Amino acid sequence: EDRQSAILNRPKAELHTHIEGAAPPAFIQGLAKEKNIDISRIFREDGSYDYRDFVHFLSVYEAATSVLTGPAEFARLTTAILTEAAENGVVYMETFISPDFCGGSDVAAWKEYLHAIQDAADAAQRDMGITLCGIATPIRHFGPDKAKLAARCAAETAGEFIVGLGMGGDENQGRQGDFAYSFDMAREAGLHLTTHAGEWRGPQEVRDAVEDLGVTRIGHGVRVIEDLAVVDMLIEREITLEICPGSNVFLGVYDKLEQHPIEKLRERGVKVTVSTDDPPFFRTTMRKEYADLMRVFDWDAEIFDQIDRNTMDAAFCGADTKARIR
Ligand code: ADE
Ligand code: ZN
Repeated sequence: EDRQSAILNRPKAELHTHIEGAAPPAFIQGLAKEKNIDISRIFREDGSYDYRDFVHFLSVYEAATSVLTGPAEFARLTTAILTEAAENGVVYMETFISPDFCGGSDVAAWKEYLHAIQDAADAAQRDMGITLCGIATPIRHFGPDKAKLAARCAAETAGEFIVGLGMGGDENQGRQGDFAYSFDMAREAGLHLTTHAGEWRGPQEVRDAVEDLGVTRIGHGVRVIEDLAVVDMLIEREITLEICPGSNVFLGVYDKLEQHPIEKLRERGVKVTVSTDDPPFFRTTMRKEYADLMRVFDWDAEIFDQIDRNTMDAAFCGADTKARIR
């Protein structure tokens, strides 16, 4: 038992969260009230987010995001999510931030949002010892043209805080390769690259992400398990998977954690990491993810050490930040 709580209490790092998706429902409801925006339809009676399936989840997510009307709201959001994460022992977190939701991918507006977010993150670092880095994130179902605008925002702000380009949204729309222009622009600006792939579509999508976009990490990627040739390609190229087990179970990619491929992927030699994705949407926290993995797969301290190493090796932040956290 002591060994279990030692694991749960250890400092944790996660690479895959969405800033809007990490918003506590009470925080979003409070802002909605302040601003007289009626989004009561997205909440259940108990105050949690209400949605049926992945596509509905994305629309509820966008409705929740509609109350985040300016930089000040994103600053408050940043403080709220970092407080929650720090309470769960998280010391390093990367979060997807969409220029689309921060000023409609206008570069000048995006910079104002980022300043506000960074100020809040700096304060959280001082007060709670948690470090945040941002990954600018085009939304796949908004299409390749919008993605170019988002990538331009990313390229213009590449630095210590914005460390990567990611892509989220509905994997069933279009192809990874449709977004090559945006990923090329980001790479040239010195940004690291990741994209959601192999959460809803199969292994070919993961292969496309690596071959057509040149990403070094994959968001989810779990369905590669259906083609071991693609699994071995990931091992050979040392691609890291940002795995979000609770998210996958909650959204029904797998019925139960027992069926989740994270353990098979890890045992075969894939660099797997553990994240929460959109914690309140999936009723999870990093502590809960760790507790569930310990219970279902019998993970011990050595395995969590390996997860930690995978995570910090694949983190997009600079060497100084890594050295400070390790
Ligand atoms: N945006 C927020 N969460 C997401 C997920 N799990 N997959 C794709 N896009 C998302
Ligand atoms: Zn995600």
